[in-house]
Amino acid sequence: MNRKVAVAPMMDCTDRHDRFFLRLMSKSVMLYSEMVATKSAIHGDRKKILSFSPEEKPVALQVGGSDKKELSEVAKIAEDMGYDEVNINLGCPSKKVQKNMFGACLMKEPDLVSECINEMIHSCKIPVTAKTRIGFDDTEDFNYLNSFILKLKEAGCKTFILHARKAILKGLSPKQNLNIPKLNYEMVYKLKKENPDLEIIINGGISNVGDIKKHLSKCNGVMIGRAIYQNPYFLVEIEKEIFNNKNYPTREEVAEKLLDYLKKEVKLGTKLNHVMRHTVGLYHGQIGSKKWKRYLSENMMARDSDFQKAKHIMTIVQNNEKANQTIT
Ligand SMILES: Cc1cc2nc3c(=O)[nH]c(=O)nc-3n(C[C@H](O)[C@H](O)[C@H](O)COP(=O)(O)O)c2cc1C
Repeated sequence: MNRKVAVAPMMDCTDRHDRFFLRLMSKSVMLYSEMVATKSAIHGDRKKILSFSPEEKPVALQVGGSDKKELSEVAKIAEDMGYDEVNINLGCPSKKVQKNMFGACLMKEPDLVSECINEMIHSCKIPVTAKTRIGFDDTEDFNYLNSFILKLKEAGCKTFILHARKAILKGLSPKQNLNIPKLNYEMVYKLKKENPDLEIIINGGISNVGDIKKHLSKCNGVMIGRAIYQNPYFLVEIEKEIFNNKNYPTREEVAEKLLDYLKKEVKLGTKLNHVMRHTVGLYHGQIGSKKWKRYLSENMMARDSDFQKAKHIMTIVQNNEKANQTIT
């Protein structure tokens, strides 16, 4: 499994359509699902919540929960459905998540988390990984973090994704929790240094190739969220600069392939806007970005948009490509 660069799990963002779109730009990165609560995965409409296209692989299912029986059941479901990894969310600070006893508040419960991970590992053969923060509330202490990670290692977990800022469980919204607590990369580097046998993936505020290279000299991998969602073609730069891949697609090729996918999906009942909403940033920083966004919002983002509205998409794309070529 190559986790050198991964796209972060993001609620309402990294659904199967987004992952398909991202995969068109990068064959090398690891993709993660949005967090799925154990109860939804077990009792909900599994096809709707968990299914994905084989083209998305390698893909991990991120799960939220703290009931070891439920978590182990979901780990088995993930394996049976073809996911390549199951990841437990130990980093989300939202009130709702805390009320249900999952996410970042579980950093206070190392014994419980360790039991959960142990059960998950015994119920499937795919890797079980954990995504956590470096601390919570007043606890931003290397020794606490290290002993928490060691406890999970004893339970059999070998791969850890560390969002390099603590979670504030009371008083900050989930959005503020992504920006206000200060990033502390040094704590993650130290964790890797003291535990060279663990796979440590660093996350938080990474937005360019220079940052990625710097972090890769200290950790096994990087995970990137917002910078890729806002500028998905950044993945092509990652393919070129990090994976030395010379065979990368143009935006036009990406749009063409997405259109084929869209045609198939619409026939299956998917709404146009459910796919296209993820492509708003395709021309981020390029000439034609505004035109692209306007085209999407006028033609493809309404709930009742039909496929006929997509027919001019390639004209917009080709005009944008030409406009950008003229200036380079
Ligand atoms: C819209 C949004 C939704 C998120 N949903 C999840 C989630 O479901 N599970 C999770 O572990 N983290 C979630 N996160 C946190 C990200 O995975 C990541 O840790 C965070 O955004 C920091 O990385 P970044 O600075 O590269 O964006 C979410 C972040 C955003 C912006």
